[in-house]
Amino acid sequence: MAKSLQEFIVEEQRQHGGPDISALIFEIADSCRRIAVAVNRGALSGVMGYAASENIQGETQKKLDVITNDIFTHDNEITGFYAGLASEEMDDPYEISAGIQRGDYLLVYDPLDGSSNVDVNISVGTIFSILKAPNKNPAVADFLQPGVQQLCGGYALYGSSTMMVLTTGHGVNGFTLDVETGEFVLTNPGMMIPADTAEFAINMSNRRFWEAPVQRYVEECVKGKDGGREKNFNMRWVASMVAEVHRILCRGGVFMYPFDTKDPTKAGKLRLMYEANPMSFIVEQAGGVSSTGRQRIMEIQPNGLHQRVPVILGSKNEVDRVVSYHQGV
Ligand code: AHG
Ligand code: MN
Ligand code: MN
Ligand code: MN
Repeated sequence: MAKSLQEFIVEEQRQHGGPDISALIFEIADSCRRIAVAVNRGALSGVMGYAASENIQGETQKKLDVITNDIFTHDNEITGFYAGLASEEMDDPYEISAGIQRGDYLLVYDPLDGSSNVDVNISVGTIFSILKAPNKNPAVADFLQPGVQQLCGGYALYGSSTMMVLTTGHGVNGFTLDVETGEFVLTNPGMMIPADTAEFAINMSNRRFWEAPVQRYVEECVKGKDGGREKNFNMRWVASMVAEVHRILCRGGVFMYPFDTKDPTKAGKLRLMYEANPMSFIVEQAGGVSSTGRQRIMEIQPNGLHQRVPVILGSKNEVDRVVSYHQGV
């Protein structure tokens, strides 16, 4: 019989020891199951379109950005496992309500990733990262831990089926939601990213703003065998990082949201704490590489909750190539 997420996590914990975060993972999975229902109901719930608000990063929030943030925050707050929570959709860390026990962990998340896709029925996801809380009354500085300190990184993908993919530092495993039983079942054990690929993903409309190393790499991919590469490349861009990383975990690829000069203060688009770090943890655990081009993402010392970083991740040999183009530049 196929193993459930519960069985798998309990076994993994027994085998490897360390802080027992099994119960935290079950509650996160359950919360993602509830978000899947909200996302799948789509227009039936009247939740499509924009809310009348902006988040701290200047993005107009979708109604579902707000709804999924409320679901994920509430579900995890009441478990008593956390000393604090922080989200893409909240300016400051969320303070655990009085009367709810404070636990030993921090939860950092992007409740709805790829939300520009939600109105057009394209895959979206939830990304999360679990950290140890240095104290029970955490300040912003207590959240600013480099990615190497994550205890768990994971995502839920609300695609043609709902999946949960996660790592606690012992490889990457994928679980598919059985909508009939409400259980996540182990379907993709030991996911590994092939070291070679002929597929890249980047928002080409930003091309004129990229730095020279990324210009060079993409130019070579586009030219393929006619431009010095040994193979021709294909390109994908879902505009939903979860879907992009999932495709790379399944069949290889390189995903880039590099530094661009459109707004140099922002250093790229993706957020270090709740997008780049958990995804880098997963990618590295699956044998891939994740870098800004100049630094391993998981070694960055964060300087702000909503800090953005350039992201280049995926198949080892291609990411190594892009990184090598950055040397001395
Ligand atoms: P979010 O919906 O959480 O704000 O994140 C969207 C991110 C990421 O998922 C995706 O790779 C990227 O933004 C898409 O950016 P473009 O709009 O430039 O395509
Ligand atoms: Mn957003
Ligand atoms: Mn996102
Ligand atoms: Mn989001």
